[in-house]
Amino acid sequence: MTLTKTDPQIAKLILAEEKRQKEVLEMIPSENYASAAVRSALGTVLNNKYSEGYPKKRYYQGNKIVDEVELLAIERAKKLFGVPYVNVQALSGSPANLAVYVALLEPQKDKIMGLSLAFGGHLTHGQPQSVTGKFFKSVLYELGKDGRLDFAAIEKQALKEKPKIIVCGFTAYPRIIDFKKFAAIADKVGAYLLADISHIAGLVVAGVHPSPAPYAHIITTTTHKTLRGPRGALIMVTAKGLKKDADLGKKIDSAIIPGIQGGPHDDQTAAIAVALKEAATPAFKKYSAQIVKNTKTLATELTKFGFNLVSGGSDNHLILIDLKNKGVNGAIAAYALEVANIVVNKNGVPFDTMPPFYPSGIRLGTPAITTRGMKEAEMKKIAAWMRRVIEEVKNEKLPQDKEKRSNFLKNFRDRANKNKNLLQIAKEVKTLTGKFLIP
Ligand SMILES: Cc1ncc(COP(=O)(O)O)c(C=O)c1O
Repeated sequence: MTLTKTDPQIAKLILAEEKRQKEVLEMIPSENYASAAVRSALGTVLNNKYSEGYPKKRYYQGNKIVDEVELLAIERAKKLFGVPYVNVQALSGSPANLAVYVALLEPQKDKIMGLSLAFGGHLTHGQPQSVTGKFFKSVLYELGKDGRLDFAAIEKQALKEKPKIIVCGFTAYPRIIDFKKFAAIADKVGAYLLADISHIAGLVVAGVHPSPAPYAHIITTTTHKTLRGPRGALIMVTAKGLKKDADLGKKIDSAIIPGIQGGPHDDQTAAIAVALKEAATPAFKKYSAQIVKNTKTLATELTKFGFNLVSGGSDNHLILIDLKNKGVNGAIAAYALEVANIVVNKNGVPFDTMPPFYPSGIRLGTPAITTRGMKEAEMKKIAAWMRRVIEEVKNEKLPQDKEKRSNFLKNFRDRANKNKNLLQIAKEVKTLTGKFLIP
């Protein structure tokens, strides 16, 4: 029975989402379009299997073929990232990071040191709202006034706090990460260095961002961002990691199962293997280099229009815009841009005085639009549209009175939905996106 016959409601919603993804400029930096090959490995008969355990050491029978799938994914990841040990079973990036902590830390005793969420760190880097900050001790570092990593301050804090794990690799950081400097600090205080390269993994394997493999002990990454695979994650132990603790791989495997998960999602594992094969091609290298070129062009154009970019620009796939000088709140900007078919997310900026629901900035990136084949010429058009959108809403002032904000936002949305200039831009965007197919 086809989906349309069994569940027309869900089938219709999937088609509507497909249409949305085709029409808009998808510029949330953590999103991408997985290839048809990756997607066709998902939702296959591999979904039907239970395979708790690891290849050749399963709790259930019938896993000969699944073993081959998982071993292939592991081998490809080892080769692509240049690491000796890989676990491919974490269901996503958050459980991957949690598994590392479960493997290495004693709850309520050992400490994680990660970048504060307000400065671009991830929830799972020890934030108090996350289980990683509730079950383990944590201390958070911040960026310098220039929006960049301040290694002198990080070192000072690490020496004082003596964390057992230092986390580098971020969610909203537009610059190259100097893994060597992080390693020097971690080594000095005897900490494990965890590089969470979820955002930049595709850039790393393509050689357009330095690799943490020589410097970190453990590397985690999601597989669905710049790596362009299915939702999922990899946990990798480097040669340096195995040198520090020969059992590190085994500890991580046990943290995944029986520690925090049960059976792996075998169709997801197969799709990860496919994505890793794709990421090893020259075409993928070219794609990743184009992501960086596109972001740089977009950053230059936005700067020409008076946009204030955190850290002054970008070296990777993402841009963080501080909108304070434009007098437009991030929540207002993100909504107006969506009406104009440009999808980004509202985001805090370093030293933001506004709360996360009404932050001062927006975050955007080029991985998905680069997958569609867009290049520098399109980036220039996008910057010009963004300027028009922000100009259009510059008089929409978020009330100082917190009580009045939600009602204001509701009314603003109604106004934006009917705004002729925003709808005109939406039409122009649709004409452009119509020319760039989703592979
Ligand atoms: C740096 C980083 N680590 C981990 C994650 C968590 O991944 P997931 O959403 O798959 O749990 C994210 C997600 O955005 C991320 O940016």
